Order: sequence, then structure tokens, then C-alpha cells
Amino acid sequence: MNNHPRTSACLLLAGILAVGMAQTALASAADFLKKDCAQCHNLTGPAPTTLKAMWERKGPDLFYAGNKYKRDWLETWLQKPTRIRPAGMYYGNHVERGVKSDEIKTATLTVHPALSAADAKAAADALMSLRANSELIKPGEYKPGSIPMTMGEMLFDKFRGCMACHEVEPGYGGLSGPEMYTAARRLQEDYLISFMRNPQAWDPRSFMPNKNLSDVDLQKLVHYLRALSEENTK
Ligand code: HEC
Ligand code: HEC
Repeated sequence: MNNHPRTSACLLLAGILAVGMAQTALASAADFLKKDCAQCHNLTGPAPTTLKAMWERKGPDLFYAGNKYKRDWLETWLQKPTRIRPAGMYYGNHVERGVKSDEIKTATLTVHPALSAADAKAAADALMSLRANSELIKPGEYKPGSIPMTMGEMLFDKFRGCMACHEVEPGYGGLSGPEMYTAARRLQEDYLISFMRNPQAWDPRSFMPNKNLSDVDLQKLVHYLRALSEENTK
């Protein structure tokens, strides 16, 4: 044990400096988000309440990012962004009625800016500090478990009609919502439950219908989404 008073004072000072520096880093990361991301993402809330504002939204709202995303996924994705919504942020702007089915006008879709490793780390930390809507999350509500894949598919594809808007594997499923085969890698389990329970509580104008899912079905759907994400490693 080294309890020399001068050493302890030094350690204390080092501790204070480290905390101070972490706060400075977070503050400058917040400035960076404001400068480079705010033109497309809402970092302060609230979510749009009119259809016009909804259609004009350029990217997903990030003001509750800390309650929504898995931090490691953020840091990785920001360095190498891949498309998550097959038809872009607002489906209606990027889809044409085809002869057989709707077709995506890929030429009108933009590529997401990619960040350096250091910027991605700073941005992920800053995003995780944005914690609006905490009252909608019940920490630990999701209880890890499993569901036979065929049961999960029946629930998602047939009984609840979720596949009409979501892809369950690349190229298979609806185009208007985000892809589902990466959802559990991207999103916190307790967020998934909360959002599926009541999409409009998070986003009053969300196009996703509230299907009045039971607590049991919500748990099963997250089991299924986790299994889907393990199958697909995009
Ligand atoms: C030119 C507009 C634009 C800029 C600038 C921009 N984004 Fe995005 N961002 C988008 C769009 C559009 C999407 C949806 C992509 C998709 O679904 O394929 C998106 C998606 C995301 C996602 C995934 C969210 C989700 O729920 O799918 C994150 C995280 C993100 N952006 C963070 C950032 C950060 C951090 C910055 C600043 C460094 C930034 N973005 C700058 C338009 C932008
Ligand atoms: C009418 C189309 C539609 C149907 C049907 C639908 N969704 Fe969605 N869903 C969406 C849209 C659009 C979003 C994006 C919401 C947003 O960004 O506000 C979404 C978002 C989600 C998300 C969050 C994904 C993310 O990346 O942020 C999950 C999870 C989800 N839906 C699951 C389901 C489940 C489970 C069902 C069936 C019970 C379902 N959806 C039915 C359109 C739909």
C-alpha cells in the first residue's frame, strides 16, 4: 500500500484532470455533431408532429440515440455506413410503381458520410449521451430467451404482417421500413420492446402501425430479431 500523502494528492489531481478532459472531449464531440450532422439529423428534439415536417426529415432523429443504439454498432457503422432503409429515409421520394411491384430509384439515394476511427469513437460517445425519452424505457425489460425460427417467422411474416414493410433478409420483404435482419445488432433490446409496443410514443407521425402487441409477443419478437441478426452478418 502506498499512502504517502503527496502521492495521494497527485493521484487525486490526475483523477480530476482525467474527468475534466473527458468532459471537454464530450463537449467538443457535441460541437462536432452540431456542425457535421445537424443539417440532416435532429439532435435536440422534439420529433416532427406534422406530415410536412415528417416528409422533409433528411435522416433519422438522433436526440434519443443513447436510449436506442448499441454503442459498438454506432462506432463501427459510422466508419463504414451501409444502407439500412432500402428506399431511403422517406420511401415515397425514392420509389416508382413498377409493373410487377414497386422499384427503388437507387440513383436518387445518397451515400452516408463516413468518419475516421477517431471521429467515429467521439461521435458514438456524444450520441450515447443523448438520452431523451428515458421514461419510455424499462431497463432490463427484455429477458434473453429463444424462439424456434419457424415460430418467429410465422409471428413476424404472417400473424402480424410486419414483413409488408420490413426486409427479413437482403432483398426479401417490404421496402418502406428499416431492414430487420440487422435490427438487433443496431438497437438495444429494451428499446426494441418499447418502440414495437408504441411507435407513436417515440415518433408521433411514424408510419409504423401500433399493433397492440402483447408483452409475450414483444419478448418473442426480440428473440426472433436477435436470431435473425445472428444468421445475417451484413
Ligand atoms: C446529408 C445528410 C446526412 C448527414 C450530413 C449525416 N447523416 Fe446520418 N443519416 C442520414 C440518412 C439519410 C440516414 C439513413 C440511412 C439509411 O437508412 O440507410 C442516416 C443514418 C444515420 C445513422 C443510423 C440511424 C438509424 O437509425 O438508422 C446514424 C447513427 C447517423 N446517421 C449518424 C450521423 C452522424 C454522427 C453524422 C455526422 C457526423 C451524420 N449522421 C451525418 C443522413 C445524413
Ligand atoms: C406500414 C409499414 C410497417 C409495418 C406494417 C410495420 N412496420 Fe416496423 N417500421 C416501419 C417504419 C416506417 C419504421 C421506421 C420508423 C421510424 O423511423 O420512425 C419502422 C421501424 C421498426 C423498428 C425499429 C427499427 C429501426 O431500425 O429503427 C422495428 C423493430 C419494427 N419496425 C418492427 C416491426 C414489427 C415487429 C412489425 C409487426 C408487428 C412492424 N414493424 C410492422 C414500418 C412498418
